[in-house]
Amino acid sequence: MTSAQKHDIPDGLNEEYYQISADILGSFNKYRPPLNIFSFKEDVSRIIPYYKVGGRLTNEQIEELLTMTKDGMIFVSREDHSVYVKHISYQLDLVLVDGNLKEKEIADIFTQALTRRLAEFFEQPVKAVFEKLWVDLMVLSEYLYTDIRRSRALVRRLHTEHSLENHSVNTGFLGLALWGKIKEKGFTDGVKRKTFDHVLAGLFLHDLGMAKVPVFIRSKEKPLTGDERSKINAHTKVGYEMLNKLGLRFAEIEQCVTQHHERANGSGYPLKSIKQDFAGSLCAVADSFCAMITKRPYAEPVGLVPASMALAQDAKYDREITKALQMLLMMDLKMKP
Ligand SMILES: [Fe+2]
Ligand SMILES: [Fe+2]
Repeated sequence: MTSAQKHDIPDGLNEEYYQISADILGSFNKYRPPLNIFSFKEDVSRIIPYYKVGGRLTNEQIEELLTMTKDGMIFVSREDHSVYVKHISYQLDLVLVDGNLKEKEIADIFTQALTRRLAEFFEQPVKAVFEKLWVDLMVLSEYLYTDIRRSRALVRRLHTEHSLENHSVNTGFLGLALWGKIKEKGFTDGVKRKTFDHVLAGLFLHDLGMAKVPVFIRSKEKPLTGDERSKINAHTKVGYEMLNKLGLRFAEIEQCVTQHHERANGSGYPLKSIKQDFAGSLCAVADSFCAMITKRPYAEPVGLVPASMALAQDAKYDREITKALQMLLMMDLKMKP
């Protein structure tokens, strides 16, 4: 029995309010919480305002608020969703302890947190910045390993604008949902947690070498010169060297970084190899798909289902993986062409 069930809280309240836990309360600024707070008044069975943003709580109120929160009597409004999402995105592990967030709200929080962390890391690709990103990636891993089907809500939140961080988030989300589809039955029996951590990180980090390519080349709309092209094509090798510097010597991460531009028919780069490891092939499909669905400097975006159909007909990609992608989008996510 949770503390909240001690009280007769009406059904439907959860549609309008989030009940908050002591962990969440503790993450707010003690005197000046970042959003309005409400309490449940049992005798009249109604939610009433407790604190308004801009005010200041007294020491007595802080104590009272903690007791009431532990009793399951304290709420914030879902109207403040954007403030709440932003707040939690800075302390991502809170999503694991907050039982009141809905799956789609958690998906919003992961999208915001990981996009920001990746942007920070690409801006400054050094170990100290990477460590914060890693912590958040492992929160995602914890969340999804419990139930890989949760990744489907993430696929509904893919970025539509292209940037290196947006593309990396999209590739991570899509690649994980796709993996969940491929191994639909008994995911955790077949996939060890460590392997999951490393493929997950590899998907998000596959283009880390691009952080070393000047932005004007990455976003150039005119055709690239030979020199610019070779700088871009070197990103898999540069990425591999960066992994070494970051101490990330894990097979699946390396496979994502070095193999995502290799193709099943040998037309890829840098090695033109025909045989890829599973993580490399998965990342290749996720990466190409995510490149197609956003507007890039050189091409217009393609719809999600048409993009998956194009890949399924392309002999350059692993057929089992592209088929699974089509099934995921059309059957499970019920997306229309
Ligand atoms: Fe790439
Ligand atoms: Fe990519």
